[in-house]
Amino acid sequence: MTEGFEIRRHDAAGRLGEFSIPGRETTVRTPALMPVVNPHLDSIPPGELDAFGAQLLITNGYIVYTSDEYRDRARSEGIHEVLGFDGPIVTDSGSFQLSEYGSVDVSNEEILEFQAAIGADVVTPLDVPTPPDVPRERAADDLAVTTERIERAADLDLGDALVNAPVQGSTFPDLREQSGAVAAASGLDVAPVGAVVPLLREYRYATVIETVLAAKRGLGPAMPVHLFGAGHPMMFALAAAVGCDLFDSAAYARYARDDRYLTVRATTPLDELRELPCSCPVCVDTDPTTLRDADSDRRERALARHNLHVSLEEMRRVRQAIHRGRLLELVETRARGHPAVLDGYRRLLDASAALEAHDPVSKDTFFYCSAESARRPEVTRHHDRLERLDPPDSLVLVDEAVAGVETSDAATVWPIRPPFGPVPTDLRDTYPLTAELPERRDRDALQAAVAGIERLDPPPERVVHDGWPEAVLADCPGLVESAD
Ligand code: GUN
Ligand code: ZN
Repeated sequence: MTEGFEIRRHDAAGRLGEFSIPGRETTVRTPALMPVVNPHLDSIPPGELDAFGAQLLITNGYIVYTSDEYRDRARSEGIHEVLGFDGPIVTDSGSFQLSEYGSVDVSNEEILEFQAAIGADVVTPLDVPTPPDVPRERAADDLAVTTERIERAADLDLGDALVNAPVQGSTFPDLREQSGAVAAASGLDVAPVGAVVPLLREYRYATVIETVLAAKRGLGPAMPVHLFGAGHPMMFALAAAVGCDLFDSAAYARYARDDRYLTVRATTPLDELRELPCSCPVCVDTDPTTLRDADSDRRERALARHNLHVSLEEMRRVRQAIHRGRLLELVETRARGHPAVLDGYRRLLDASAALEAHDPVSKDTFFYCSAESARRPEVTRHHDRLERLDPPDSLVLVDEAVAGVETSDAATVWPIRPPFGPVPTDLRDTYPLTAELPERRDRDALQAAVAGIERLDPPPERVVHDGWPEAVLADCPGLVESAD
């Protein structure tokens, strides 16, 4: 079996990958969600996770290390035996405790060697998670410590274990990029983007996207990227679209403890539920009243199970969407459900050029689902193509919503299809111009069409539109006239 990370398909900056782990039978299909297992609080026994569709899990090596109950057993029997889970196990190092409580009682070397000794498949150095918005000097100083610890991890003999090279740098894009480059140069195996939990908690998804974009500039495409602490299913599609391959969810269990029911759109307090809008084994078997009346252990267990089912279901949906080239349509659907996802998506579209680098030239039909669709990388790519071609000298562009325009015999007529703009005759039936578009066009689509017209050199002689607003026409080259 090949080891390492192989990318099978791209969609926007998202990837469908196969991640093989030495000594494990199965290959992890990414994007993948790793349920977080706390051995002290197992609301779902790890042995049952396989039946939920979890391919791998993550647990905290530091919690095991500091536990009188588990430390020695984990050393002698191995972490797979202790947890009762045969699939790949990723361990964290205590860095999260470091960020929450200010210190931990272990060194980088000790915790790395402990994780390897208990047989973890992917181990993590003691990186320093710097919170958002700190002074630059602190972020840079912390990053120097993280860098040194990553380089030390690369020098240690950790047996067969794969090793994480965490990316830090707080909210400074250049430091994130620099940290990404350190991870790529380290020769280590997985790049988790760290210290985004405070951003996720505050729903600052635009900043999360900006952070990942910066990290990826330094990382390049080769390593699998883990978004540390990202567990809310409403943002999986968005984070996958920026190129995250691994996610970990403690949210399923944490929200269950607070009587909260997860959906791909939001989080609902159990008290507000009159229906269970889900067909997982928990929800088909109970109802909100029964859940509310259950004792707290049963209630928490049921909610944790439901929450994990919807989370893993969304991750399967993300993989299927990438397979079909429909990831951005899925992101648009999620962006309609929560403004934070919309903010993140808008930030992602600002980087349309970066998204385009690996986006396939042809995929399943482009669906125009919201005004944001006008800024998708497929539109940008069509505009770049318009700039490269040699348009005919007497070109008349006619909005495709207009029929039967009179032209002189010498003129060539191309339709205008918003948001793409001019449709050269040869490209008429090719992707993405075969898009499904709504009949009623929004201003963003018309504006994008004009941006496409502007890329033609020489400019068109005439542009016949269908009552476009003045503000849209202001930039339009050529002799502009309305059809009516
Ligand atoms: N868990 C959540 N955030 C982080 C992080 O930045 N580093 C590590 N090691 N674990 C985390
Ligand atoms: Zn359910």
